[in-house]
Amino acid sequence: MSKVILVTGSNAGIGYELVQLLAEKGHTVYLASRDVTKGKEAQSKLQQDGHKAKFVQLDVTSPASITAAKEFIEKEEGRLDVLVNNAGIAKFESPQNATTVDVAVVREVFEPNLFGLIQTTTTFIPLLRKSSQPVIVNVSTDMASNTVQAGPKSLLHVVAYNTSKAAANSYTIALAHELRGEGFKVNAVTPGFTSTKLNHFGEGGRAPREGAGIILPWVLVDKDGQTGLFIGPDGSEFPW
Ligand SMILES: NC(=O)c1ccc[n+]([C@@H]2O[C@H](COP(=O)([O-])OP(=O)(O)OC[C@H]3O[C@@H](n4cnc5c(N)ncnc54)[C@H](OP(=O)(O)O)[C@@H]3O)[C@@H](O)[C@H]2O)c1
Repeated sequence: MSKVILVTGSNAGIGYELVQLLAEKGHTVYLASRDVTKGKEAQSKLQQDGHKAKFVQLDVTSPASITAAKEFIEKEEGRLDVLVNNAGIAKFESPQNATTVDVAVVREVFEPNLFGLIQTTTTFIPLLRKSSQPVIVNVSTDMASNTVQAGPKSLLHVVAYNTSKAAANSYTIALAHELRGEGFKVNAVTPGFTSTKLNHFGEGGRAPREGAGIILPWVLVDKDGQTGLFIGPDGSEFPW
């Protein structure tokens, strides 16, 4: 079954590769970018590689932009089958120690990673309700796992990023519970360390296409699939 899928923040990185993987499978995919030029360039690049995606402008920190994107997709398709909340920032270039972090940095990172994710989700839920198999995938990170962070050997206490993603995980749990009765599949997935703009193309990470491949099965989960899970890079459950 061909699905209508929206991937936020998909002009680059893991999101872009996910759009490509989904387009290769024949789905109707909306490549979303906050910046129109960057988004259209990404759409053309995809087209040069022989794939087709539709473009929609979407800044997850702008309620007006989210509403306009929802109205556009509603007019074009009449429904949305899958929302992938992928857009995010990390601000790794700003110090993020627990004892000294600038609260302005924490607020800045929470804007897209938590508030934007929630705003996008609540805006698109009515359109997802028009699908026979509605799915929401929240792209999370290993660094959002409180269980991992609380372990004696944990190192990566990057507090603005980690707390924003941990809060998004908490929202994912609530969302999955609230929507379970309506047949929604709602899961968080971490692709694991992937070399992208977000981490200044850090060495040793997996390729973005591989990261996208980890998310892919949870985008295409069917009505018999699972909900309310946090999935790790090896495809099995990850501790919240
Ligand atoms: N890379 C990793 O190791 C890793 C590991 C675990 C989880 N993740 C998660 O994977 C997701 C994708 O990140 P990535 O690694 O692919 O990084 P990326 O290449 O920097 O991609 C992030 C995307 O989000 C977009 N974005 C940022 N703020 C936005 C906003 N306000 N509205 C709409 N789009 C916005 C960016 O747009 P611009 O190009 O305009 O900035 C870009 O398209 C993120 O949620 C990240 O937390 C990444």
